[in-house]
Amino acid sequence: MLKTLLIASISLTLTTLTGNAFAQGGGSGKTKAAACAGCHGEDGNSAMPGFPKLAGQHKGYLVKQLQAFKNGNRISSMMGALAAGLDDRSIDEIADYYAANRITANPAPALPDSDDEDTRTEAQKKEEMASLIAAGGNLYRNGDLATAVSACIACHGPFGEGNRPGSFPSLHSQHADYLIKTLTDFKNGNRTKSRENMMYMIASKMSDQEIKAVAYYISTLK
Ligand code: HEC
Ligand code: HEC
Repeated sequence: MLKTLLIASISLTLTTLTGNAFAQGGGSGKTKAAACAGCHGEDGNSAMPGFPKLAGQHKGYLVKQLQAFKNGNRISSMMGALAAGLDDRSIDEIADYYAANRITANPAPALPDSDDEDTRTEAQKKEEMASLIAAGGNLYRNGDLATAVSACIACHGPFGEGNRPGSFPSLHSQHADYLIKTLTDFKNGNRTKSRENMMYMIASKMSDQEIKAVAYYISTLK
């Protein structure tokens, strides 16, 4: 405890002296992010598939999302309340901290167990997952001409690395469950009501099956 306090106060002094330089990868961003660890993991690699991983995400995107939770442009009662307590400087430092960490890879995805009537064998489930991932990869790279869904690769990159200057989020190794939820939220207008949001337009053209397929595919990208 004493050690933590000491480190916190030293880094606070250094941050004041050197501006943002010290906040990279630690310093007071790390101290402030302790409040987020319960859901997002200490280093931003959340253990729970419904909570997004933040590690390695582009800083510009993280700042934009935290500001959007705060001003209500991104709808989430949970994150809205949490972000309301963060000033601009804290947002900046926390974003620096997560951006400097590395996202961890996911275990091989498995279909969730459905009800008792599920008569599929393990081998069948594996095969189903493999074809979902193949379809997801195809949509990611090529889009869907028939339904005018844009190719994800254009903005999120061949490896799901996103685009830092454009604040297009990095997607690789994100939890599939979170991806399915947030794409469905975009589609139904539950993440944002802004029609100018590119993803609102794109997701509204996607079927539930396409969302599932592309989410599993993205979760396997390293
Ligand atoms: C009680 C659990 C919980 C805590 C604590 C929490 N979060 Fe979150 N966070 C969530 C959930 C759930 C979402 C997904 C919200 C949604 O879109 O429905 C989220 C989303 C986010 C996102 C958007 C990620 C993305 O990929 O778009 C950021 C950034 C974020 N949280 C930062 C923080 C920060 C910073 C803190 C600490 C100040 C924090 N969170 C504390 C649960 C939590
Ligand atoms: C024209 C550029 C563009 C294309 C094409 C695009 N995206 Fe996005 N995507 C964005 C932007 C910009 C955001 C951030 C939106 C925001 O700030 O709310 C985003 C956000 C996302 C998110 C939320 C990430 C998170 O951490 O919460 C997911 C998931 C996503 N896109 C998946 C996809 C998929 C799947 C496709 C292809 C079907 C796709 N995107 C195509 C620009 C694009």
